[in-house]
Amino acid sequence: MNWGMKNRISRIIKPKTGRCVMLAVDHGYFQGPTTGLANLGETVAPLLPYADALMITRGAIRNWIDPAVDIPIILRVSGGQSILKELSNEIITTNIDDAIRINASAITCSVYVGGEYEKETIGNLSKLVDEGEKYGIPVLAVTAVGKEMARDARYLGLASRICVEIGAHMVKTYYTEDFGKVVEACGNVPVVIAGGKKLPEMEALQMAYNAVSDGAVGVDMGRNIFQSDSPVGMIKAVRAIVHDGKSVDDAYEIYEQEKK
Ligand code: R5P
Repeated sequence: MNWGMKNRISRIIKPKTGRCVMLAVDHGYFQGPTTGLANLGETVAPLLPYADALMITRGAIRNWIDPAVDIPIILRVSGGQSILKELSNEIITTNIDDAIRINASAITCSVYVGGEYEKETIGNLSKLVDEGEKYGIPVLAVTAVGKEMARDARYLGLASRICVEIGAHMVKTYYTEDFGKVVEACGNVPVVIAGGKKLPEMEALQMAYNAVSDGAVGVDMGRNIFQSDSPVGMIKAVRAIVHDGKSVDDAYEIYEQEKK
């Protein structure tokens, strides 16, 4: 791995703890104005001091994020589909030149293993890895799950391993029972979990705790943070679990205190 690639990964996965809290706000690329993100800038601003990286599209960053902000950007460079149609029909929407202009610390796309356009989405990842390797920009592969697919360790292990074999430098997947097998399938490639649909805060914190206990380096969480009744409380609580090794109860207390 070249120096630039290592340096960019170190900006995201903090060397001090080997962990990271990514804040995902890229949902609009196929969902439109997702609850909590209609005014993305207002939602994100108070959360940035507690996030290690921001996952976002180029349109959203240019519209809502101050370029003077000090946060590594994980640039969502895929899209082309919407919630109204087949989700796996994804293309690369942003070229590497624009990712460099934005000063992206990583680029990301989704891979739909088992989806109708499986091959095309694996091809997208492959192209990003080629471009990323050329310029020292790491690629975060997201294992997107079609509606009909089981989110179990067998499926997520299969999807994540394929991303690793294609060359992804980081993998984002979903938490599941036997998550250690998913992490194991990825070898030395760091794994983070997505939060998924909004859960009660205690359950979301438990999921983050279980994921890092099973070997994830952290989370790339969106709705369970920005749709919480205390988004700052939730990101602080998640951070306490991921970086400080706090228990779920201690983290929940942090959330409750902030809410008050
Ligand atoms: C989905 O493909 C997007 O990358 C989202 O950013 C991702 O699912 C993480 O957000 P959440 O924690 O809301 O699931």
